[in-house]
Amino acid sequence: SFHMMKTDLLANKTVIVTAGGTQEAIDPVRFIGNRSSGKMGYAIAEQAALAGARTILISAPTNLPVPFGVELVSVESARAMEEAVNSRYEACDAVIMAAAVADFRVENMADTKIKKMDTLELKLVKNPDILKGLGANKTHQKLIGFAAETQNVIEYGKSKVLNKNLDMLVANDVSKQNAGFNVDTNEVTLIYPGGQVRPLPLMTKIDVAKRIISALAEL
Ligand code: CTP
Ligand code: CA
Repeated sequence: SFHMMKTDLLANKTVIVTAGGTQEAIDPVRFIGNRSSGKMGYAIAEQAALAGARTILISAPTNLPVPFGVELVSVESARAMEEAVNSRYEACDAVIMAAAVADFRVENMADTKIKKMDTLELKLVKNPDILKGLGANKTHQKLIGFAAETQNVIEYGKSKVLNKNLDMLVANDVSKQNAGFNVDTNEVTLIYPGGQVRPLPLMTKIDVAKRIISALAEL
């Protein structure tokens, strides 16, 4: 079908795509998670491979099949994702951080199953910001971030581009219907470090993925 069209836009490039929502363990059988389905990141990985890139998909758990021609690295927590990305960073040309990385993890995971009780307090501590670390250590790579916001999308987006040293940010308003988590469509705005803003119309995640890959090829 048309969405399987092959190009050589990213021939001879290595692209890392992260996807899915990280899982932060509470005990051996429980975790803190989020509503990311991984659909956007998997669609991007598929389009990167179709554009000729060696594509490494570093994914938190999802229910999605691995796209054809994509190398999968499975992780659970933010810290495991950070290690998987950082160890491959030097050898890659671009990182697209579509994963919904948990901002917090449980400070001390219980090593046996927590028993039922009247109340339970969990202390959460801040996770590393994977993308900010990549931005701070950037040499030749292009960095693309994502931001799901419920307000002030452009304003918050612009500050994330500068704060994380990004080459492009894909921002979306998840308070809108048909955009963001667990749907097949998305309405995003591309934000650049010079302050340029490119709003895209509502389209399928496959089409958004194609636009992101052509925007990366332009970079
Ligand atoms: N990100 C990351 N590591 C984190 C948190 C986020 O690499 N610990 C990445 C996401 O994958 C995304 C970008 O940073 O590409 C923006 O994530 P977002 O949650 O929108 O921003 P935060 O910096 O976490 O700020 P906040 O959640 O407070 O808006
Ligand atoms: Ca966050």
